[in-house]
Amino acid sequence: MGKLEGKVAVITGGSSGMGLATAKEFINNGAKVVIFGRKQALLNVALHELGDNAHAVQGDVTIMDDLKRLFNETKSKFGSIDILYVNVGQGVIVPIAETNEALFDAQVGVNFKGSYFTLQQAIPFLSKGASVIITTSWLNQVGFSGSSLLSSSKAALRSLVRVAAAELAEKEIRVNAISPGPIGTAFWGKIGLPEDTLNAAAEAITDQTTLKRFGKAEEIAKSVLFLASDDSSYITGEELAVQGGITAV
Ligand SMILES: NC(=O)c1ccc[n+]([C@@H]2O[C@H](COP(=O)([O-])OP(=O)(O)OC[C@H]3O[C@@H](n4cnc5c(N)ncnc54)[C@H](OP(=O)(O)O)[C@@H]3O)[C@@H](O)[C@H]2O)c1
Repeated sequence: MGKLEGKVAVITGGSSGMGLATAKEFINNGAKVVIFGRKQALLNVALHELGDNAHAVQGDVTIMDDLKRLFNETKSKFGSIDILYVNVGQGVIVPIAETNEALFDAQVGVNFKGSYFTLQQAIPFLSKGASVIITTSWLNQVGFSGSSLLSSSKAALRSLVRVAAAELAEKEIRVNAISPGPIGTAFWGKIGLPEDTLNAAAEAITDQTTLKRFGKAEEIAKSVLFLASDDSSYITGEELAVQGGITAV
């Protein structure tokens, strides 16, 4: 018997990386899962891998109507939501001196505003005792040059988790953050660095981890399962670091 038997989960950014690995882990544990992302082609490939207990909704976290559609469609397909994994995030590495307003609005718009309204729009659809997990990052604990918009938007989410945990406790809803270290996903190919710079950065980051390697999306999925399931029933408002020791040692 799986740890999420009969539960309904929504995973934003569920078509790739940690979101997709977590969708597989949840389904293997008995859940029905709705994944959300912008590219229909990615969603289709993911659905093929996930099978009949998955459903996809195409949309963008920066568009309020898309979020409303996500939760209404989940309700009519599977019912109330027991697990919400607010996982969409992206990052472009640019020094503060070279950042402009458009870049600020785009990054903060997806990472902070998008996550904020994903949570807000989901609230009426969450069942009593639901678990909410929000993806932050090891980058909100360090001064990684060029990551100002990504890091500070993730720090804002850390704060949001505390307030949401306080506000939603009366419905017995728990809210926690998962804070991944460097994880080998498509994320790194989208941060806007040329290949040689990216390779050098990956080498330096690998060396900074205590375990001397990047993590795997599946290693995050196991920890998200912990936060989603009753195994973490007395944990709320926390940030669980799964980081190969990069900020701890
Ligand atoms: N990889 C790391 O080392 C690392 C470390 C710490 C934290 N994180 C965080 O972990 C989370 C997952 O990242 P990942 O590494 O698994 O990355 P990924 O493989 O690039 O997955 C990102 C997912 O988000 C979706 N997405 C992106 N922008 C979206 C938008 N505006 N609206 C809806 N969906 C959107 C993508 O699909 P579409 O492109 O089709 O929309 C995709 O499904 C992110 O919040 C990231 O910041 C990553």
